[in-house]
Amino acid sequence: MVKLPEIIESHRPKISPETDYSTLSNYKDFKVENSNLNIELLFNEQKIIGNVTYQLLALNSIQKITLDSSFIKINKINVNNTLAQYQINERVEPLGSSLDITYEAPRESSLELSIDFETTKDSTAIQWLKTETSTTDSSDYVFTQLEPIHARSLFPCFDTPSVKSTFNAIIKSKHPVVFSGLPISKDSSDIYEFEQRIPIPSYLIAIASGNITSAKAGPRSTIYAEPNRLQDSINEFEQDLEKFIKIAEDIVTPYIWSTYDILINPASFPYGGMENPNITFVTPTLISYDKSQVDVIAHELAHSWSGNNVTNASWEHFWLNEGWTVYLERRITGALHGEAFRQFSFIQGWNDLINSIEALPKFEYSKLVQDLQKGKIDPDDTFSSVPYEKGSNFIYHLETKLGGLKEFDPFIKFYFTKFQQKSLDTYQFIDSLYEFYGNDQSKIDILNNIDWELWLYTPGLPPKADFDTTLVDNVSSLVSKWISKATEFKEIEEFKEFFTKGEPKSLYDGFSSPQKILFIDSLLESQPSSDFWLNNSKASDSLLEIYPDLQDSKNTEIIFRWFKLKLLSGKSQYYNDLSKWLGTVGRMKYVRPSYKLLNRVDRELAIETFKKYQSFYHPIAANLVKQDLGL
Ligand code: BES
Ligand code: ZN
Repeated sequence: MVKLPEIIESHRPKISPETDYSTLSNYKDFKVENSNLNIELLFNEQKIIGNVTYQLLALNSIQKITLDSSFIKINKINVNNTLAQYQINERVEPLGSSLDITYEAPRESSLELSIDFETTKDSTAIQWLKTETSTTDSSDYVFTQLEPIHARSLFPCFDTPSVKSTFNAIIKSKHPVVFSGLPISKDSSDIYEFEQRIPIPSYLIAIASGNITSAKAGPRSTIYAEPNRLQDSINEFEQDLEKFIKIAEDIVTPYIWSTYDILINPASFPYGGMENPNITFVTPTLISYDKSQVDVIAHELAHSWSGNNVTNASWEHFWLNEGWTVYLERRITGALHGEAFRQFSFIQGWNDLINSIEALPKFEYSKLVQDLQKGKIDPDDTFSSVPYEKGSNFIYHLETKLGGLKEFDPFIKFYFTKFQQKSLDTYQFIDSLYEFYGNDQSKIDILNNIDWELWLYTPGLPPKADFDTTLVDNVSSLVSKWISKATEFKEIEEFKEFFTKGEPKSLYDGFSSPQKILFIDSLLESQPSSDFWLNNSKASDSLLEIYPDLQDSKNTEIIFRWFKLKLLSGKSQYYNDLSKWLGTVGRMKYVRPSYKLLNRVDRELAIETFKKYQSFYHPIAANLVKQDLGL
């Protein structure tokens, strides 16, 4: 280990990787050799019941085994086939109830810990729902979402990304089941078996079951979806999957997970995507009928390296997962669409970063390395674009400073090989930079001159790179025309005359989907004052009329932004449309800001809408919206 610049050394923890305080378990006392889940999904009772068995090796002499749990009932615990005493401790927010199992054992002993448990209605990890798979039919469905700290609400575990284990799963269900591992051929009709031979942390476990059908979507890929969405999903993703995997293998290392599948969840799925190993879970809102949201798939696929293989050791270092993943996502889509496209994506991401820093509940949360205050702060509360955008900008900054792709690419391979199947913190990442470039004094000088303090520990925007604006310039040009004409023209006819002909028209007609998204964002951002479109009502009316393709878009990235424009322009005739739309999407990226907007213009409608759809939303999403609305 080389000595790093003073500012980093002054933050470096005594132990490496840094302790994860978002777990109550005594995970450092054990190595988990294997985990075995044997459970049954009970749709009528909305609970999961069964057993989890751990093969443990004690790394120290121990008095007890402490696991994480949250809203879980324990029925029986055995250690080495003997009944064990246990105690569920009182809840500590936000971490849940630790589970103490009394057992004395010397260092290096092997233990088999077997726990019979069941989940409860309060589990934050599971959503049970009825979905409409056709107009006449409704069907049971269940899915889990465990990142960051909800695994403990599905089964008792060492719920920390610092602990990895191989898994076996036997899942009984009356409906087809998918799992974050490889399926094993089945003999009985309602028993589904899987195995995950690569050690993974608990947050990457995922289960879904329902009327799930599937079709092949590439040599290594299958798409799973309810029947009414299967064909659309195949059309949307099939062409890109194998291309993405090959490009990523080229940039990083060979794909180790064998298969890369996708499950299209029902609309209440609270994220765009979740990188569950072997089977990425996504929201159906990615189906936009023009492949304009495949970047989310590139993102989740990239997690197969950053996150799932090389993992952040605690949620304070979450940027190592997401920043690296956004960086790789843009390398993948950039390889397909060109460097100008990659640069464009960074500029779009920069706008997201500005917006999300503004929306943060605390400015402190905009640091790259988070301070979760020894477990007191819930990682769900600090979630934002910061680890994604500041993180990927940081990697990009290193790429450019160190001499561009030719100099940086070998480091990518080095880093992802060095830390494969491991969990690490920011210090180990920086150590590895110094290690890799250690023989080259000019590179070490460059590293010594990086403003680590600013990037890692200072809240707010980092320095902005000098991105290539080729794909942005046309957008900016049309936006400035709108801003200047908005105050000049008085009648809709004047706007139409100007914007539906000649240069303004040909500019717009040349926009790709990502450019249209930037167009709306820029209209909303580069306005001279926050009530610009409200004060220039004829201009906003004209916008809505002149671009019917934005009005009719099936791309939720556009739908959401178009609503934003309508509401900020005070067009009350659209409030009800937004309210209705909020009953069809559960992705938090749209739901939370939409409620905040609606609340601003019509609080009564916001509350009425939330009450109506509360049970449709995922429990985590519902909770956050409740907080956002101050209910
Ligand atoms: N791992 C995240 C989703 C996540 C993060 C779930 C934190 C729970 C806690 C996933 O890879 C992700 O980043 N999804 C994004 C996609 C986007 C950045 C392309 C999303 O859902 O919007
Ligand atoms: Zn991600």
